[in-house]
Amino acid sequence: MAAQTLREGGLVAFPTETVYGLGGDATNDLAVARIFEAKGRPRFNPLIAHVADIAAARRLTKWSDRAEAVAQAFWPGPLTLVLPLADAHGLSPLVTAELPSVAVRLPAHPLARALLAAVGRPIAAPSANPSGRISPTTASHVMAGLSGRIAAVLDGGPCSVGVESTILGLTEDQPALLRPGGVPAEVLETLLGQPLRRHAPGEAVSAPGQLASHYAPGARVRLNAHDCAPGEVLLGFGPMECALNLSPKGDLAEAAAALFSALHSLDALNPAGIAIAPIPDVGLGRAINDRLARAAAPR
Ligand code: TXA
Ligand code: MG
Repeated sequence: MAAQTLREGGLVAFPTETVYGLGGDATNDLAVARIFEAKGRPRFNPLIAHVADIAAARRLTKWSDRAEAVAQAFWPGPLTLVLPLADAHGLSPLVTAELPSVAVRLPAHPLARALLAAVGRPIAAPSANPSGRISPTTASHVMAGLSGRIAAVLDGGPCSVGVESTILGLTEDQPALLRPGGVPAEVLETLLGQPLRRHAPGEAVSAPGQLASHYAPGARVRLNAHDCAPGEVLLGFGPMECALNLSPKGDLAEAAAALFSALHSLDALNPAGIAIAPIPDVGLGRAINDRLARAAAPR
């Protein structure tokens, strides 16, 4: 049913282990245009092509030994690879924003995998939220933001990872960290045996979705907070007194899985601001802090 809708050019939101995706047939210009329209997303932002298996990723890209090594280690899972586009890829040019490269990902969530296998085509899927807002980690988050704009949402319960995939750029000699995410950069560096090039301050953004203000709740966000100013609610980490705690025992994986849900529910209280406790900047903490910095950025 959902697969049929996608094959006919309709939009279906579906769970992945990271966040819910807003899916459309990546080979169909109209379906991809509808994704941008439903999200209200700027056109220049290219999308990830989700695939059912490694063979499909090989067909879309100029695959490499390095791509094979990371795919064998981390797929299916929360990792996206940016690779040179194959000559006969069949993707809508709207997916790649006419870049010579493409982002591909093989997600781990069983519902996502079943859907991709049933459709038999790559599925373009940004996070299923209106552009610039908090990413959805439950089906009800999706409906709160996109109800009436999509044909259906598959409910696979809350996402287990909770932050988007890590984006690894493999188009140049040195692999590049284009977005921190579910697979810690340190783990990729160990596998590849070399440091990842990181985005230097002031350098042009290389993953176009990396705009400063993103993942933004309605309320003002204040970081590295230890207590609340008047009107604020406190989002905690580790043992402390607060309105809501990402992980009372200080576990980063638990905090990542809870992050977007916590922001959604605190924002629903309409506070003057959301104060957020410091999160250690290691492993998954880097992906969490990346999202929090964008949520706190001036709009
Ligand atoms: O976890 C995820 O990756 C989720 C789930 C649904 O799979 N998807 C997701 O998609 O986060 P989205 O569209 O919100 O983010 C895609 C990111 C954007 O920052 C975009 O700029 C980057 O991927 N991207 C896509 N194609 C690219 C390319 N050719 N070169 C560099 N960055 C690219
Ligand atoms: Mg997004």
